[in-house]
Amino acid sequence: MFIKYTTIKEIKDHLLSLKKENKTIGFVPTMGTLHRGHLSMIERAKCENDFSVVSIFVNPLQFNDKKDFEKYPRTLEQDIEKLKSVHCDILFVPSAEEMYHDLLSHLSEAEHCLSKEEELIEKTLDFGMLNKIMEGKCRPGHFRGVCIVVKKLFDIIEATRAYFGEKDFQQLCIIKHMIKIFQMTVKIVSCPTIRESNGLAMSSRNILLNSDEKQNASYISQTLFEAKRKYKEYSVDVLKKWMTEQINNNPFLMLEYFEVVDTETLTPVLSWTDTENIRAYIAVRIGNVRLIDNIQF
Ligand code: PAJ
Repeated sequence: MFIKYTTIKEIKDHLLSLKKENKTIGFVPTMGTLHRGHLSMIERAKCENDFSVVSIFVNPLQFNDKKDFEKYPRTLEQDIEKLKSVHCDILFVPSAEEMYHDLLSHLSEAEHCLSKEEELIEKTLDFGMLNKIMEGKCRPGHFRGVCIVVKKLFDIIEATRAYFGEKDFQQLCIIKHMIKIFQMTVKIVSCPTIRESNGLAMSSRNILLNSDEKQNASYISQTLFEAKRKYKEYSVDVLKKWMTEQINNNPFLMLEYFEVVDTETLTPVLSWTDTENIRAYIAVRIGNVRLIDNIQF
């Protein structure tokens, strides 16, 4: 049976009763506007645990651009239908007040409290290279916001396993790092990127593209896969130049970054002999929308 909760107390009470019966819980945190990428993780969470819990919360703290937060798609009614179709057990949809009550309850104290929470994350977590490049560099404060909300959600749900997509591989690395530092017991399960038939990585933001933009957006992953096929023919620098030209020659697309890094440490690769574990990351603007993708070389 599908149950929806909006308050921390209610969902905690329900989960406590399941834990007393030694039930395992698979948790999939999301920001909603669910697509097959999300649903595949929920199905996996269902398969590997006694109960599946999904959260939908568009987290204001992780948006470095206010406009991006405002225009982020929100489709709760359709999301609920999709969750029922994959037999999700529990949905948690808190309001910003519910999640950040301590931060928002007193306006004059809000900034003070927020910076205290931020300070804790920043002081405790040395992300090293993980937070210094790509999304960490282009979206200041983004991963701090992600860590604050994910830690809060983990503390509420106390899941056995939590599922994260490789579509956001840098986020996955950051979450794994946070788990280690805070010695949390939840097991992080990484899930493959689900793509449209033309290769475009599924994303909630794809809904914001018009049909021309959506068609041209598939060029991002197609070029990424072509780079994987022939990267050894080029030096790293030449590959980067080639990629920049390929993307920017398409009038719909504007490259924000293309990076090749060590999969584990996210240290930039300067030569193909640096490591055998190479991952390529890309961020592209298409109209007002920003899309990211990555693949293992
Ligand atoms: P959101 O973008 O909704 O993504 C929720 C989860 O779905 C993330 O783990 C993401 O990597 C995964 N995901 C997205 N698109 C995918 C795809 N095409 N294939 C496989 N998995 C995919 O990521 C967030 O929300 C937020 O930062 C969150 C972790 C919920 C914290 O607010």
